[in-house]
Amino acid sequence: MLEIAVGLAREAAATARRLRAEAIADVETKSTATDVVTAADKAVERQVIEALRRLRPGDGVLGEEYGEAAGETSGSAAGEKHGGAAGEEHGAAAGGGAVRWILDPIDGTVNYLYGLPQYAVSLAAEAGGEVVAGVVINAATGDEWTAYLGGGAYRGERRLRKVTGPVELSQTLVGTGFGYDARRRAHQGRVLAGLITRVRDIRRFGAAALDLCAVAEGTLDAYFEKGLNPWDHAAGGLIAREAGVIVAGLDGAPPGLDMVVAAPPAIFQPLHDALVELDAAGGP
Ligand code: IPD
Repeated sequence: MLEIAVGLAREAAATARRLRAEAIADVETKSTATDVVTAADKAVERQVIEALRRLRPGDGVLGEEYGEAAGETSGSAAGEKHGGAAGEEHGAAAGGGAVRWILDPIDGTVNYLYGLPQYAVSLAAEAGGEVVAGVVINAATGDEWTAYLGGGAYRGERRLRKVTGPVELSQTLVGTGFGYDARRRAHQGRVLAGLITRVRDIRRFGAAALDLCAVAEGTLDAYFEKGLNPWDHAAGGLIAREAGVIVAGLDGAPPGLDMVVAAPPAIFQPLHDALVELDAAGGP
């Protein structure tokens, strides 16, 4: 499944790159006026769905732009099922198969729009509800991260050894992101204001899948975000976990809409406790 994922993600990244010039002239909005989707997000997602239908006809697919798309004809997959911003309700695998593919065709769509080289294709395979393989490709640079369950994490050919990172929260470089809803952002801003005095510094790069890969390879020490959908963190979460990073929600919850925290073992608990104190999973 990882081989399939890598092949499809490379083709998808090439399409995203190729379509950028024309796609940024064809932009729509989803949940809010700042939540954009380009023609390329949709074209890339259709391309991957159609390839998966050929290669793995019984599997389900959950994508950001078309939701649960398996079992439909290719016409209807292309037929604007609905925007992925409504993805919070998506859950069960479609298509009746035990395997579900989870796709973000372009994670970091705003970066894509602006030409900031920090946007990625993220594709994961989930079996029996557990993510077992994942690939994230920065479509702008070609950098590629992969993992399969129990098989370690890789950047290209290089195995990512367990990150050691800092031992104190005060020395920790923390990545995060913001939702598209203004009320949620206001809460996220308050959380950040409480956290920034307790850590080394904050980074906001704009693509959750790449943030998780950055923690996996130690170019960020830790990351947290409220409001991520499965397509944002399925592949990157596996890559981080396979590199020895703890990826979880708060208070023992699995990573999900309420919160995704990714940090090496020494930092996870202090960061977790600070986020609980700041009510990072609360608010709208
Ligand atoms: C977004 C990016 C961003 C994160 C948002 C995501 P999209 O994904 O990952 O970094 O802060 O929460 O929605 O919309 O570009 O696919």
